Amino acid sequence: MTFLDTPAQATTAAVFPPDFLWGASTAAYQIEGAVAEDGRSPSIWDTFARVPGAIVNGDSGEVACDHYHRMPEDVALMRSLNLGGYRFSVAWPRVRPDGGPVNQTGLDFYRRLVDELLGAGIRPWLTLYHWDLPQTLEDAGGWTSRDTAYRFAEYALSVYDALGDRVPVWTTLNEPWCSAFLGYTGGQHAPGRQEGAAGLVAAHHLLLGHGLVVDELRRRGTTADLGITLNLTVADPHDPEDPRDRDAARRIDALHNRLFLDPVLSGRYPADLLGDTEDLTWNGRGWQAVVHDGDLRLIGTPLDLLGVNYYKGDSVSAHPDPAAGTPHAGLATRPTSTPFVGCEDVTFPGRGLPVTDMGWEVQPEGLTRLLRRLDADYDVPPIHITENGSAYDDVVGPDGRVDDPGRVAYLESHLRSVHAAIRAGVDVRGYFAWSLLDNFEWAWGYGQRFGLVHVDYDTQARTPKTSALVYADIAATGRLGGG
Ligand code: FCB
Repeated sequence: MTFLDTPAQATTAAVFPPDFLWGASTAAYQIEGAVAEDGRSPSIWDTFARVPGAIVNGDSGEVACDHYHRMPEDVALMRSLNLGGYRFSVAWPRVRPDGGPVNQTGLDFYRRLVDELLGAGIRPWLTLYHWDLPQTLEDAGGWTSRDTAYRFAEYALSVYDALGDRVPVWTTLNEPWCSAFLGYTGGQHAPGRQEGAAGLVAAHHLLLGHGLVVDELRRRGTTADLGITLNLTVADPHDPEDPRDRDAARRIDALHNRLFLDPVLSGRYPADLLGDTEDLTWNGRGWQAVVHDGDLRLIGTPLDLLGVNYYKGDSVSAHPDPAAGTPHAGLATRPTSTPFVGCEDVTFPGRGLPVTDMGWEVQPEGLTRLLRRLDADYDVPPIHITENGSAYDDVVGPDGRVDDPGRVAYLESHLRSVHAAIRAGVDVRGYFAWSLLDNFEWAWGYGQRFGLVHVDYDTQARTPKTSALVYADIAATGRLGGG
C-alpha cells in the first residue's frame, strides 16, 4: 500500500469513523487581546513584543482578535461551521496574575466561555499552557527554574477547581519543544534567551510540570481525559546514503520528538540523546543534574490521549547549506541562534516541495508516516491531531468572499493522510484545524494568516474563507471527496 496521496485516491471518498471529532484550535495570547483588563498581569510575550526586532512589524497581542470581548459571537461562528470541538488555552496571567493568588475575574472569562460552548453543543478542549508564562515567574528564572513546574501545577489545579466538572478534556502543555528551545536556546520566542543547554533544562521542567498536574488529577480521581500536545516532525536524512546525514536526522529526531515522547510515554529519556548532550552544562554541572529521582515516574504517568501537532517534516543534513540561514529564524530582525543545541552543524535543505507563506514545505505524506511510527514505536494512547494548517496571503475579494485554494488543498491532503493512518490501524480520534481565526502568529506577527476565518484587524470583521465552508461540510458529513 502506498501512503502518498495519489490522484486516484484524491477522487475516492475518505469516510471517517462516525464519532470522529472535528474541531478548530486557538491560543489565548494569539486571539484574546485585553492584555491589561480584569487583573491580567503581563506575560513573557507582552515583554518580548516590546524587544526591538523580536516580532515582525513590531506587532503584539495587545488587541489581537479582541476575542475577550467578542467571545459569544466567536462561539456562534464555531457553531455555524459545525464544529464538534474547540481547543482553546487558558491564560495563566489572567488566572494567577504574576503567578500569585487566584483572580476570580480572570477565571470568569473561561467559565463563560465553557458555558457558551456547552450551550452550543461544542466540546471544550482545554490547554493549560500555550506559552504565556507570567513575566514575574520568568524574572525568577522562568522554565530554567524547577520552582516554575510547581507554580504551574498550582495554577493548573486552580483552573481545574473552577472548571473540572464541565471540561471533559485537559491537556497540560502545547508544544513544549517550542517553549523550551525557541524560548531558551534559539531566542526566536519569548523570553528570547539564547543560553544553549537552558533549552534542555526548560524542557525537563516543563515535563515535570506536566507530570505533577497529571499525577495530582489522577489522585483526585478525575474522570476527564488527560493529555499533552507535542509538535512532532518527520526527520528524513537529506541524502539517505550519507551516514552523516543519517546521524544528523537521528539527532534531530531525538531533540524534537523523542526527548518528549519517550519520557511521557515510556518514563525515560532517550539514551542516544543523553549521550549526544552529555557535555552540555548548566550552572557548572551536566544539564542532566536537573533531573531528580522520581521526576520521570511523574512525567510518565499514563495519559488518556496524545495531541499531535503537525505542519511539515524536515530534510536534515550534516553538510553546510549556502541557502540556509539560522533554523526557525523567520523574518524578525533580532539575531537568533539555532534552537537545536549541540546540533550547530545541522542544516535543513529544501526539497523543492511547494511551500506555504511561512516558507514551510507542504508534505502531507509525512503525517501518515508520523502517525504510523507513533503506533509502531510506542504504547501510544488514542491520538488527536490538535493542530494542522497553513498560512497564505488571503484577501477579501470584491464580492466579499475569501477564496483560499491553497488552504483547501492543504486541508484535504492532510485529512487524507490522517485517513490513510486510520486505515492502517492507527487510533486517531479527531482533528483540530489550526486555526479558527487569523491571529497573532508569534514572532511573525499578523502577517501570516492561518485562519479558516479571515479577520480584518481594523474592523474585527470575521469572514469565513472557502476553506471554512469546505471544512464545515466535512465536519457535518464525516467524509471528503468522492462526489
Ligand atoms: C504552532 C503553535 C500555534 C501556531 C502554529 C502555526 O507551533 O502551537 O500557536 O502558532 O504553530
